[in-house]
Amino acid sequence: MNKINDPASRMQDYLVFGENGGVNPSIPDSATFTFLATETMEGVFAGEIEGCYLYSRHTTPIGNDLSKVLALMENTPAAHVMGSGMGAITSTLLQLCSAGDEIISSRTIYGGTYAFLKNFTPKFGIKTNFVDITNLEIVEKNITNNTKVIYCETISNPLLEIADLRELRKLADKYNLKLVVDNTFCPLVVAPYDLGAHIVVYSMTKFINGSNDTTAGAVCADLDFINSLKSVNDGAAMLLGPVLDTIRAASILKNIHTLHVRMKQHSSNAMYLAQKLESIGLRIIYPGLESHPQHSLLKSMINEEYGYSGIITIDAKEKSIADKFMIAMQENKVGYFAVSLGFYKTLFSSPGSSTSSEIPQEEQVSMGMSNGLVRLSVGLDHDIERSYQLIIKSAKSAGLIK
Ligand SMILES: Cc1ncc(COP(=O)(O)O)c(C=O)c1O
Repeated sequence: MNKINDPASRMQDYLVFGENGGVNPSIPDSATFTFLATETMEGVFAGEIEGCYLYSRHTTPIGNDLSKVLALMENTPAAHVMGSGMGAITSTLLQLCSAGDEIISSRTIYGGTYAFLKNFTPKFGIKTNFVDITNLEIVEKNITNNTKVIYCETISNPLLEIADLRELRKLADKYNLKLVVDNTFCPLVVAPYDLGAHIVVYSMTKFINGSNDTTAGAVCADLDFINSLKSVNDGAAMLLGPVLDTIRAASILKNIHTLHVRMKQHSSNAMYLAQKLESIGLRIIYPGLESHPQHSLLKSMINEEYGYSGIITIDAKEKSIADKFMIAMQENKVGYFAVSLGFYKTLFSSPGSSTSSEIPQEEQVSMGMSNGLVRLSVGLDHDIERSYQLIIKSAKSAGLIK
C-alpha cells in the first residue's frame, strides 16, 4: 500500500516520459504488438510473462499508465480502464457472478445499472434483490446462501443517498461477499477502498475526465481481480471487449491530473447554491447540507478538503414546472439541459424521465423520486453568485418561486 495519505499527491508523483523526453507519454498507434521470440509470445498468452503487450483488447501501454494513476488515486493495488462506465460495471459483475448467484443492490442506482441487473443478468441466471441500502437490517435480511455481491453507489443517483461503506463491509465479511462500489459521483471526495470496498468502479465519463468528450470507465481492485478480468480464457473484460481507445486514454490521463482542483471548485459551487436555494424555501437534496438525512455519515467518510461533491437535486414538485425551469435555465445560460454530470459547465436534467427512466414509475414513487426532481451537476463557474441569480430568474419564470 502507498504510504502517502493524500491521493492527489500520490497521483502527482506518477511521472511518465514520452518518446524524446516528452512530458506526456507517447500515444501508441498499434492494435497489436510484435515479439522477437515465439517463446515470449507463448509465455505472455499463458500469463507467465508480464510487462509485454499482447493485443490492445487486453492492455495498451497508455491504458496501463492511466490505470496506474487510478490505482494511486484509489489506493488499490491495481486498476483497469474500459471504454465506458457500463463496460466497467457489467464486466465486474459478470466476472464475480455465475448462474444461480444473487446480488444485493441498492435500489437507487444509475438507471443503466438498474436495467442491467433487472432485465439483462436474469437471462444468465443471476438474480438481484434491490433494497434500501441505507437500511442495514434490510440489507442483511436479503442475504441468502447464494448471495455473492453487495452493490451500491457511494452517493446514489439521483437521490443522493449515502451508503455506509464501513458497515456494508462488515456485512460483506460476515457472509463472505464482495462489496462493489460505484464512486462515480465523488472521486477524491470519498475513498471507498480505504473504507472497505473490495472493488471500486467508475464512469470516467463524468468528473474524472471532466470534459464530456468521451465515455470511459475503470475498475480499481486487487491485482488478482484485475488479472482475472483480463484473463484470455475467462476474463469478462478481455472476452466482452469494452476497450478504451488509446487517444482517449491519453486525454483522460491529462485531465485526471487536474481532478483535485476541479473537485474542490465543483463542491464549493454546489455548496453555495444548495445553501442559498434552501434558504429561500426550496426543497434541496445535497449531502453537504445539515438537512440531508445522512449528512453526518458522509461527513465521517469524506476527505474534507474536497467537500461534498458537485451534484444537487432541486424538487420542483411538478413535472411541468421542472420542465419549464430547465428550459429557462438553458435560455438564461446557467448551463445545458443534458444528461450526465461532472462537466466543467453546469448540466441539468430530470432523472425521472431521463437517467432513471429505466426504473418503473411505481418503484420511483416508493423510492421517493418525484417526477419534479431536477438534478444539477454544478460546473466550475467562476462567479457562482451570478449563476445563483440566473437560477433564481429561471425559477421565477417557471413559476417555481414568486
Ligand atoms: C453513477 C453512474 N454509474 C455509471 C454510469 C455509466 O457510465 P457510462 O455512461 O460511462 O457507461 C453512469 C452514467 O450516467 C452513472 O451516473
